[in-house]
Amino acid sequence: MSEILHATDISVRYRPLGSRLRRSRSREVHALERVSVTVRQAGILGIAGESGAGKSTLAKVLAGVIAPHEGTVRYEGAPIGCPRKRHEARLIQMVAQDPGSSLNPALTVRTVLSELIRFHGLRPADGVEVRCYELMDLVGLPRAVLAARPRALSGGERQRVALARALAVEPAVLIADEVLSALDTPVQAEILNLLRDLRERLSVAIVLIAHDLAVISSICEEILVMHRGSVVERGATRQIFTQPADPYTRMLLEAARRLTMPLAGG
Ligand SMILES: Nc1ncnc2c1ncn2[C@@H]1O[C@H](COP(=O)(O)OP(=O)(O)OP(=O)(O)O)[C@@H](O)[C@H]1O
Ligand SMILES: [Mg+2]
Repeated sequence: MSEILHATDISVRYRPLGSRLRRSRSREVHALERVSVTVRQAGILGIAGESGAGKSTLAKVLAGVIAPHEGTVRYEGAPIGCPRKRHEARLIQMVAQDPGSSLNPALTVRTVLSELIRFHGLRPADGVEVRCYELMDLVGLPRAVLAARPRALSGGERQRVALARALAVEPAVLIADEVLSALDTPVQAEILNLLRDLRERLSVAIVLIAHDLAVISSICEEILVMHRGSVVERGATRQIFTQPADPYTRMLLEAARRLTMPLAGG
């Protein structure tokens, strides 16, 4: 499979809030240190690592939400900057953990989707409504949801709406950052199936970010393990599960196995 998105030697530092003084440099958080990542066309890449590892920071750099201090992001071989140009902004979409806070409570689902479709000129005016129906079908929601505002929807439905919003602009890469963590287990399984299904139907590449290695291994072909701002291991899922090379990966795997093991005597 050919590479579609490639980030090279990405470094990101955060300054402590409210300090612009030079001496605060020593207190900077090195969220990413020379991280490189490759996303293949229509592939599914998993990114694992404990809280604070830098997963969301990497997602934001790939999606063009924040500019890295060092390093480059290339799409089909050409560098793309931050902020992104309109045609570039469409290509890499990110869905975050809490769909409640990322959806505007004042707008109906129809308004959100149709404004995006119009803004990017993706359909003629008389094709927008049909496209909204298609998007609802794609994410497994009834068309009646188009008239709803986010507050009227369940967590799982909101996450599907967030996916529909990302897909409305027809991205080549969809980054799902902890999209399951606010959901109940059965709903998590539904959303995972949906992601797998979307990849098949749309040939969209997916980057799935999660703490939980079990979640990642269920749909990802390749895994990248992050620890304290660096990539400690990368490779095919099967290889990482059977022959983890890095001690941190081994620890994550053991933790995942303990969690999925039935309780003694239960
Ligand atoms: N806006 C910010 N300002 C200052 N520090 C930040 C900011 N965002 C993240 N950080 C810090 O950067 C590091 C990486 O954070 P990031 O959110 O990328 O980790 P993560 O792997 O996504 O964690 P989680 O699993 O908890 O979502 C952490 O130490 C975090 O505290
Ligand atoms: Mg995060």
